[in-house]
Amino acid sequence: MQQSNLRIARIAAHINPPNLQMLEEDLGLERVNCRAKGASSGFKVAILGAAGGIGQPLAMLMKMNPLVSLLHLYDVVNAPGVTADISHMDTSAVVRGFLGQQQLEDALIGMDLVIIPAGVPRKPGMTRDDLFNINAGIVKTLCEAIAKCCPKAIVNIISNPVNSTVPIAAEVFKKVGVFDPKRVLGVTMLDVVRANTFVAEIMGLDPREVDVPVVGGHAGVTILPLLSQVKPSCSFTQKEIDYLTDRIQNGGTEVVEAKAGAGSATLSMAYAAVKFADACLRALRGDPAVVHCAYVASEVTELPFFASKVRLGRNGVEEIYPLGPLNEYERAGLEKAKKELAGSIQKGVSFVKK
Ligand SMILES: NC(=O)c1ccc[n+]([C@@H]2O[C@H](COP(=O)([O-])OP(=O)(O)OC[C@H]3O[C@@H](n4cnc5c(N)ncnc54)[C@H](O)[C@@H]3O)[C@@H](O)[C@H]2O)c1
Repeated sequence: MQQSNLRIARIAAHINPPNLQMLEEDLGLERVNCRAKGASSGFKVAILGAAGGIGQPLAMLMKMNPLVSLLHLYDVVNAPGVTADISHMDTSAVVRGFLGQQQLEDALIGMDLVIIPAGVPRKPGMTRDDLFNINAGIVKTLCEAIAKCCPKAIVNIISNPVNSTVPIAAEVFKKVGVFDPKRVLGVTMLDVVRANTFVAEIMGLDPREVDVPVVGGHAGVTILPLLSQVKPSCSFTQKEIDYLTDRIQNGGTEVVEAKAGAGSATLSMAYAAVKFADACLRALRGDPAVVHCAYVASEVTELPFFASKVRLGRNGVEEIYPLGPLNEYERAGLEKAKKELAGSIQKGVSFVKK
């Protein structure tokens, strides 16, 4: 009987962790004696939207990250199932699941890093902006809870349209006086990952050795690859520049169309999100020279938000690098990007202020 109660409690723990603690105490079992606890001190990470197409592989990859000691998986559906599944992986991070709005605050208390892939993805024919009405509300609600429960956490926003959801998050935090521009980061890493891959394909290089800065934002023409600054230094023909710029800007649409209604990029996105989250954790640990592109509150241009290379540190974004020398093609691209970005930022700000 005791055994079966404990088993039930363990399953219920994925839904409501405090229940497990109470039952374990009743049965004379203390969490501290439990063998299956995190092996090392590490960071506490929450994924909001953990049962989704991105959320699941993201949760799996974060469970494999040795820098993570506690992994909270929150969703409005299927969080217990994903948590039970992931929790069987024999890596050191302890996994807890949280289901539904009433468990959101428990999911967030004490977190060092919160990753948000919650929301609806695109279908063929949709732009990222078409997702605005649904995802804006989701990101607003989640950020209100972050502002209350873990205002010092680093926040990685994946939910589209990132060009607007990051300004939404900033406005939510500003409203309650906890906005720290260093800690709110829009994840544009997938654009960089795609750019590195496509450039490597064309130049016959190992993609791991390629570094393409991608600046601006995360939608269509706002995605601006700076091909003149690729490392290792490459010289492209105009035809190659046109092809690469178009493919990098429309990489997301390429996946949306290939999936034909079944969603947008999930696996490459989870990979990119983990690459970025791992960089944030290494920076929190104090590693020097952690530099990646991200969409952040910025003074690099006249716009209040912009993606460019940033140096990450113990407080989040420690330094934002200028764009560097642009060629004429890139300067024209920048003007187009800024025009569209300005509207998306304003849309996000107005959504919270209205
Ligand atoms: N930044 C990028 O580069 C990038 C790339 C691809 C996709 N995306 C975006 O990521 C988001 C998720 O994509 P997906 O393919 O995983 O979608 P999905 O529909 O497969 O998963 C979304 C998950 O969010 C959950 N969810 C919905 N409302 C929620 C709420 N209020 N609180 C918590 N969870 C909630 C859903 O239950 C679902 O499990 C989309 O907005 C998509 O456009 C961003």
